[in-house]
Amino acid sequence: MSGQPKEISSVLLEQRVFPPPPAFSKQAHIQSLEQYRALYDQALADPERYWGDRAREELYWKEPFQTVLDWKPPHARWFVEGKTNLAWNCLDRHLDRHGEKIALLFEGEPGDRRQLSYRELHREVCRFANGLRSLGVRKGDRVGIYLPMVPEAAVAMLACARIGAVHSVVFGGFSAEALHDRLVDAGAKVLITADGGWRKGAVVPLMQNAREAVQGAPSIEQVVVLNRLGQALTLEGREVGWDALVSKQAETCDPEWVESEHPLFILYTSGSTGKPKGVLHTTAGYAVNVSLTTRWCFDLKPEDIYWCTADVGWVTGHSYVVYGPLMNAATTFLYEGAPTHPGPDRFWEMIARYRVSIFYTAPTAIRAFMRLGSEPVLQHDLSSLRVLGSVGEPINPEAWIWYREVVGKGRCPVVDTWWQTETGAIMIAPLPGATPTKPGSATLPLPGVVPEILDAHGQPVPQGKGGHLFLARPVPSMLRTVHGDPDRYVKTYFSEVPGKYFTGDGARQDQDGYFWLMGRVDDVLNVAGHRLGTAEVESALVAHPKVAEAAVVGRPDELKGTAVVAFVTVKKGVAVTAELKKELCQHVQKEIGAIARPDEVRFAEALPKTRSGKIMRRLLRDVAAGKQTTGDTTTLEDFSVLAALRAEEE
Ligand code: PRX
Repeated sequence: MSGQPKEISSVLLEQRVFPPPPAFSKQAHIQSLEQYRALYDQALADPERYWGDRAREELYWKEPFQTVLDWKPPHARWFVEGKTNLAWNCLDRHLDRHGEKIALLFEGEPGDRRQLSYRELHREVCRFANGLRSLGVRKGDRVGIYLPMVPEAAVAMLACARIGAVHSVVFGGFSAEALHDRLVDAGAKVLITADGGWRKGAVVPLMQNAREAVQGAPSIEQVVVLNRLGQALTLEGREVGWDALVSKQAETCDPEWVESEHPLFILYTSGSTGKPKGVLHTTAGYAVNVSLTTRWCFDLKPEDIYWCTADVGWVTGHSYVVYGPLMNAATTFLYEGAPTHPGPDRFWEMIARYRVSIFYTAPTAIRAFMRLGSEPVLQHDLSSLRVLGSVGEPINPEAWIWYREVVGKGRCPVVDTWWQTETGAIMIAPLPGATPTKPGSATLPLPGVVPEILDAHGQPVPQGKGGHLFLARPVPSMLRTVHGDPDRYVKTYFSEVPGKYFTGDGARQDQDGYFWLMGRVDDVLNVAGHRLGTAEVESALVAHPKVAEAAVVGRPDELKGTAVVAFVTVKKGVAVTAELKKELCQHVQKEIGAIARPDEVRFAEALPKTRSGKIMRRLLRDVAAGKQTTGDTTTLEDFSVLAALRAEEE
């Protein structure tokens, strides 16, 4: 399990308890621990009734469902025979009461601003949905989206949902190769991209990557290109401009009423083996839980200005930038660029100017801000803030306290939310008006979520002891399968303990039943809140002509949580030089993207392996972390390997 070695001060901080401010609780959706417990018990006693009630409350149903859950482990079908449409739930149903309300606020990195009311967003979505239909996109077809964080990213997703097409958003920081692999695996018919986006004052070359990516991607018929940079577009063969496509379209568009289990999106995420897998989410179950958790976990109210800093290329962007806030008729803020561009106070300046009241970001960002000191935060009036959220990786108590005290001035509940691409929505988190918080704990499971911490034999561990985290009951927003690889779904998530979903995380529970997440227990790294499979980085490295073998492990890192360390053996006759290290880092960046770039490359004569040929990762992790080796080295085939690595280290 990864995680930082604990200082005594950290341990003391973990023991502090912060009850919700009474004035906050009085106004909150869920006002007390008792109210939370009653809901939890109700969901535990009769989950179908609980979820059935939630589904009727959260969504507009064109046709009501007949059965809440059809559970044939590990396959679940929720809200069977119901029909709905997610774009309708995000837009049309709000038009009467909130048509003129701002749905989406946007600021580009260069400072350009836009806002769209619910009526305007509805119109844009309808026009683009008609545009997609005019390109031949039909219910069930897959559509790739490779855009910067601009309103059109949300428009494109909603347009797909409106016509029953399945979107697959690829983070703009991924390389052409990574995009290519995802488009091919998804069998995308259309790709939506832009001429570029802005990041740290520079242009992200989306168009260039997109052109490379569609080479040899046989399913792609057309590419829609958004003009983001404001210069004339020069389009090639099968490319069509966004504006040209929508200019001739009608402003209304009949939604495709889809069955509850109709696929909504595929989102690629890293696993412990092989290529990233296409996590498939379906419509109604996802929508119900995302809508509910957005309101409960952030205590979202109609007057809130809500800002989740995630990119739409990640699940957090899907659920808590786009769908969750819009289903709740909230105002959601989108920012395109880097957090500290052009200055260290960019985020705080925008929070003050837009009067942001709910702010949701990642521990890596919080730690980076902490390093910059409190001054950039204190320069701005952050009195609009009410709730502070954290997601994506374990948050260390020091960062939690800084977030609460410096950003939230001790007034705002901090909600540390644990969930995954696969769970679709938040699973373990405090409810800000109800749950006392402890720095570094995601606290308690939401009603309907039944986490269990089990040992290697599937038995519960004693309280306070670490183990593997499972979810023992199905939840409507969970993934349904791995696109194109149903066996991988069963193998990855349901083979450790049959019938129970394995999260890949380690956790422990304290005397109050609070959950403390301890990082991944599989070969997945969490680098700055981004998931990265060691196998992916290894296969990128061995694709380099000079590399013979590679093993990638994580090393605890103060800022990024985990740093990427690559152990590499080179082919015969290749000189190991500082230049080669750089070349390999660049190679990985080109193959996957900047997030996968190794922080360190170490050359070794051979990799330490067990007699059966398995790379001894634990040993490598220890070497990477500069720790004494604790592994049983007698199983090593070749002791000299360890000696060589040690010598390298010294
Ligand atoms: O290890 C957990 C960590 O992030 C993983 C999920 O990554 P991803 O699918 O990319 O989704 C990130 C956003 C939901 C988990 O398996 N993780 C996420 N949230 C937390 C966390 N670890 C500790 N505390 C959290 N709050």
